[in-house]
Amino acid sequence: MATPIVDVHTHVYPPKYVELLKSRSEVPYIRTFDSDLTARLIILPREDDPSTPSTARGRPIGPEYFDIAKKIAFMDQHGIDISVISQANPWLDFLSASEATDAAVEVNDDINNMCEKYPGRLFAFGTLPVKAGAEACVREIKRLKGLKWMRGVVLGTGGMGQGLDDPKMECVYTTLEEAELPVFLHPHYGLPSEVYGPRAGEYGHVLPLSLGFPIETTIAVTRMIVSGVFDRHLALTLLLAHSGGTLPFLAGRLESCILHDAHLKKLGKLEKRRDIWDILKKNILLDAVVYSGVGVRAAVEASGEDRLLFGTDHPFFPPLEDEDTHQEWLSVATNYAAINKVFEGDKEKGGAVLGGNALRLLKLQAE
Ligand code: URA
Ligand code: ZN
Repeated sequence: MATPIVDVHTHVYPPKYVELLKSRSEVPYIRTFDSDLTARLIILPREDDPSTPSTARGRPIGPEYFDIAKKIAFMDQHGIDISVISQANPWLDFLSASEATDAAVEVNDDINNMCEKYPGRLFAFGTLPVKAGAEACVREIKRLKGLKWMRGVVLGTGGMGQGLDDPKMECVYTTLEEAELPVFLHPHYGLPSEVYGPRAGEYGHVLPLSLGFPIETTIAVTRMIVSGVFDRHLALTLLLAHSGGTLPFLAGRLESCILHDAHLKKLGKLEKRRDIWDILKKNILLDAVVYSGVGVRAAVEASGEDRLLFGTDHPFFPPLEDEDTHQEWLSVATNYAAINKVFEGDKEKGGAVLGGNALRLLKLQAE
């Protein structure tokens, strides 16, 4: 039997979370503007500018964001056998300590129940109550380990508020290692809007999505590397969104900058450290959501073809044409084509990237 195709980067806003966003009037929120009947999802402060026409604010949010039957229809349409769903950004990052713990339980149970409806076709990465602190996160990780369809956690780059090099994250990493659950690291915040210049409004979402997102991820994981997270947590596994942002391309420069840094040397930090190439090959998994053969090759070179995993980023990047035409999504076709081009003539390696690696690394056999 052919290896199944597995999508490891595919999002959902569980119904409980949609309810929560609809009840809010501050970012993030969902609302219908007077001039437009489609509900819109506003997830970033820069999307909330009242001078922006409502049709350009945030993005329209339809059932493909929360109705799991739509996810299955999308999978069937694109030949995807299994999806590992994750809550989309901004997860629970904006909830206060007192709200976050209960919300995590509700949202994670909601997602696990979605998986239960389609046994063996859906698995998930759970969400952590980051603002409730390390102990609450540790408790939720242990609870997730007992939920049938959970295979890891999705984390934003902010961690508990101070980033992923925050010493408070240490016990979270230890718990994840012990539970053998990987972190799916995904961007949300991008870069400060000033970097995009005064004409940014003319360019839609292109700059924040194509550059802000990947650079945010690159900075977050680089901070983990330079702070020694992977020297202390040898068994921690990170699945990096969008093929690691720009990490595969910049890894050499990063390693060189570390080796030439007088401050790190003085602190003795160059003595017992793992180099970036070792971390990339032992702790990092990369998704193949990179839309080109060049990107796929860089990912293979950095982490190995046995650590690269197909993804779609559904329900983001739908065709701009009328969605009712049921056409194949260009964003998905481009990622398939990139993988097929790189692994042309090597069905085994191509099949591993399309699904075999995910089955093995995320332990996706149904129990
Ligand atoms: N835009 C988002 O906000 N999240 C994604 O995952 C992709 C695009
Ligand atoms: Zn995504």
